[in-house]
Amino acid sequence: MTPAWASGAVVYQVYPRAFADANGDGVGDLAGALARLDHLAGGPDALGVDAIWLSPFYPHGGVDGGYDVTDFTDVAPEFGSLADLDALVAACHERGVRVLLDLVTGHTSDRHPWFVEARSGRESPNRDWYLWADARPDGYPPSNWVSEFGGSAWTADPSGQSYLHSFYPEQPDLNWRNPAVRAAMAEVMQFWLDRGVDGFRVDAIEFLIKDERLRDNPPAGPRREPWSPEPGGLRRRWTRNQPGLGGALRELRRAMDGFPDRILLGELYAPAPRVAAALTGPGGPRLHAGLDHQLAKSPWDAAAFRRALVAAERHLAPPLLPAWALSNHDLSRHATRWGVDRARAAALVLLTLRGMVCLYQGEEVGLLDGPPSGRDPLDRAGRDGSRAPLDWAQAEGQRRDPASLLSWYRTLLTLRRQSPALRHGSLTVLGGLPTGVLGYEREAASERLTVLVNMGARSARIGLVRTAPDAIVAATDLDAVLARRGALQLGPNAGVIIRHA
Ligand code: BGC
Repeated sequence: MTPAWASGAVVYQVYPRAFADANGDGVGDLAGALARLDHLAGGPDALGVDAIWLSPFYPHGGVDGGYDVTDFTDVAPEFGSLADLDALVAACHERGVRVLLDLVTGHTSDRHPWFVEARSGRESPNRDWYLWADARPDGYPPSNWVSEFGGSAWTADPSGQSYLHSFYPEQPDLNWRNPAVRAAMAEVMQFWLDRGVDGFRVDAIEFLIKDERLRDNPPAGPRREPWSPEPGGLRRRWTRNQPGLGGALRELRRAMDGFPDRILLGELYAPAPRVAAALTGPGGPRLHAGLDHQLAKSPWDAAAFRRALVAAERHLAPPLLPAWALSNHDLSRHATRWGVDRARAAALVLLTLRGMVCLYQGEEVGLLDGPPSGRDPLDRAGRDGSRAPLDWAQAEGQRRDPASLLSWYRTLLTLRRQSPALRHGSLTVLGGLPTGVLGYEREAASERLTVLVNMGARSARIGLVRTAPDAIVAATDLDAVLARRGALQLGPNAGVIIRHA
C-alpha cells in the first residue's frame, strides 16, 4: 500500500550545494537548508510542501555532483555532519514535512572502499560486487555498450579485465545480480530509515540490471569501433530496463518492510507503461511511484502534454500514483526551456495534476539557468546551468509581492492542500478543445474542477464551459481570462481553474 500522505503530495527538491549556504564558504549546506525551512513550510508565507527530497550530501569522489558516492552512510564535510542531517530531519518533522534522501543504488565512486577492494585483484572477495569482463584480443572494449555521458561504458583495468560504468568511468556499476550487493544496499536503507527518514528518491533505477552476457554482446563488427552507438538505440538495449529489474525493485521494496508510511520514488525517463512496470508486477510491489519526466522532456505543446496525461491515466490508473516534475538538477530549467512568460501556466498545470508532484528549488521564483561555466569539475556533463544557487534576495522580494510567481505558487499549493479534487480526485483529460488548449477535470466526491490552459500563441475561445465568473477559483492572470456569455476567452499562456456547482 502506498502511504496516504503520498497521494497528491508536493515534494520539493533541495540540491544542497546550491540551496542555502549557512557558513559562507560559497557551497550550500545542510545548516543552510535548516535555516531556510520557513520558505518551505511552517513559516508565515511558506509554500507549504509535504516533503523535501535531498539530493546527495554524502562523501563523494568529486565528478558527478555528489552522485559518485564514497560512503553511503555519512555526510560530506562541505555539507556538515550527521548531526546537521538529524537536526534538519527533526525540524522538517516538527513542521509536518517528510524527508526523502537520494539513494544512489546503481553505482559507487571508484574511490568507494567496496570498489577499491574489488579492484585489488581478481581474487578479491568484492570482485563480483561490480561488473567485469575480460579484455578482447583486438584491444577493443568487451562490448559496444556506451555510457550515458558518452564514450565506452567499459574502462580497462591493469588486471586484464574492464569494469562497466553506465555513467562516468569514476562510477563503476554495482552488480545487482549479486545478493551481497542487494544486502549491502538494504543495510544502507536500514541505516537511514532507522534515523527517521521517510523514504528515498531512487536514482537511475532502470540501469540496475544489465544483460547477463557482458562480453561481445552483440559481437563487434570488424570495421566499426565496437562501442559506437548504433541506430535504434542499440546501446541501451543491454544496459537499461532488462529482465530481472522487477526482482531488484521488489527487493528494494522489501527493505522498506517494517517501515510503514515510508516511500520509494524512482527516477525514470520512461513512458507510462514502463513506469507502471516499475511499480507493480508479478511477485509483489515494487516502487511506490516513479518520476517519468514525460512533461519535462516535452515541448510546450498542448497535444504533447495531452498525450502524456492520457497515457498516465491509462497505465497508472488509481491506486497507482503518477509522479511529475518539470525541472530538476539534470535538465535545463523549464523557465529557460519554455520561456519565463509561461512559468505561471506551467505551475498551474503541474500543481493540478493527479499524483505526486516534484518542484525543483528555485522554480517558484522563476530561476533561469545560469551560464554554463564549463569550469565546474562537478559538471563534466554540462549541467551546472540548472544548478546555479537560489537567489534568496529575489525570493524575499517576491514574497512581499502578491502578483509575483512565488505568490502564485503559494496560491496553487494552498488550493491543492485544501481541495479534495486536486489532492486525491480523478483526472479526466478533456477532448474537443480549441487547438493549443489543454484541459482536464479533477473530481472527488464533493468537488468537481476544470483546469484549462492555453498553451498556444493565440487567444482561444472555449465555448463548452458554461460558467459564471465567480466560479473561477484561480487564474494565471485575470486580464487574460474573460468569462462572457457562457464562454471563456483565454489569452496565450493563460490558464484557469473553474469550480462546478
Ligand atoms: C542523477 C544525475 C547523475 C546520474 C548518475 C541521475 O539519476 O540525477 O545527476 O548524474 O544519476 O548518478
